[in-house]
Amino acid sequence: MRVLLTGGAGYIGSHTLLQLLQKENEALVFDNFSNSSPEALRRVKQLANRDFAICDGDIRDADSLDEAFRDFRPEAVIHFAGLKAVGESNEKPLEYYGQNVSGTIALLGAMQRHGCARIVFSSSATVYGESKYLPYDEDHPLQPTNPYGRTKYFIEEIIRDWVTSWPAASAVLLRYFNPVGAHPSGRIGEDPQAIPNNLVPYISQVAVGRLAQLSVYGDDYDTRDGTGERDYVHVDDLAAAHLAAVQFSARTRGCEAINIGTGRGATVLEMVRAFEKAADRPVPLRITARRDGDVARSLAATAKAKQLLNWEAQYDIDDMCQSTWHWQSSNPNGYTD
Ligand code: NAD
Ligand code: WQD
Repeated sequence: MRVLLTGGAGYIGSHTLLQLLQKENEALVFDNFSNSSPEALRRVKQLANRDFAICDGDIRDADSLDEAFRDFRPEAVIHFAGLKAVGESNEKPLEYYGQNVSGTIALLGAMQRHGCARIVFSSSATVYGESKYLPYDEDHPLQPTNPYGRTKYFIEEIIRDWVTSWPAASAVLLRYFNPVGAHPSGRIGEDPQAIPNNLVPYISQVAVGRLAQLSVYGDDYDTRDGTGERDYVHVDDLAAAHLAAVQFSARTRGCEAINIGTGRGATVLEMVRAFEKAADRPVPLRITARRDGDVARSLAATAKAKQLLNWEAQYDIDDMCQSTWHWQSSNPNGYTD
């Protein structure tokens, strides 16, 4: 199959690209490298021992998209490209709507012009907002609480309308929970450009000595130990879910939203302990105030992914922490080493 990956050089894109190549698919990465490094692609090529096409372009640029679609003639698109920092989205909402929403509209237009009718989209559990009940199933009300989350919500609606207007089209909206971990080779992984916002990259940079200590945002939540509980999912499980979703999109029409998580939660302190075990060293921490906008618990209902994609997570939090540590300790400064 010929698959075009927007944002294919990024954290989740690079892991998915590797699995696509390992399964004999042809790939084109369309990325503007605003939050990634060409080095990630060089390493994927080495690991897969296979080549693929790269287009340095912006999804908001219709001419670059047209050129990529004309040359590569993809049968399906996996759409990762976009901005993803919740805090930054509060400060720069127009930038987020421009890149994420307008970028997706430009991409859907190019797909239609070139007869490419299948898309798998990187949505997020953040579309659910405050939980009315747990675990979140795909019918849970959608009330995102920040501009980033709203871009994902609006894009989901736009893709639904696009699919309705085009009988040949099919779309899978994957709502990721908390992706963490790295490829077991330690050659590719998450490489935040600034101080990490997310828990596991932060712990990992404390463990490797780049940051002094972890701030645990609140220990007075209604959870087992008072710290926030999340559904962490290994990036290689997530990559496998994309392959299953692309295949599913070939045998269906219409639009499906599907949660991608494990259905099991871990608290902040449980993640710290798992990481300390993986890295065999202590992770200094202090308890601080809650972070604005955080919920106590987030957990995925996983039945729909199993039923439609025949996908379920294989890895647990020990695997996630071990692979993160292998990547971080082999590449203390990420791809700039
Ligand atoms: P990432 O930043 O590592 O990857 C995104 C890639 O898109 C980068 O390579 C970046 O250079 C590229 N890009 C950004 N804007 C672009 C544009 N306008 N044109 C072309 N390329 C562009 O992020 P990631 O963690 O791999 O996330 C991938 C997708 O998954 C994003 O859409 C994100 O919102 C979504 N998501 C991520 C998480 C998470 O925790 N990592 C959770 C839920 C959803
Ligand atoms: C996890 C837990 C924090 C950092 C975010 C986005 C979401 C999705 C995934 C893209 C929480 C605690 C964190 C730290 C801490 N991304 N924490 N100290 O907030 O569940 O989800 O990433 O779609 O949209 O909102 O993930 O990793 O930031 O936090 O104590 O330095 O760790 O309070 O309980 P979150 P996270």
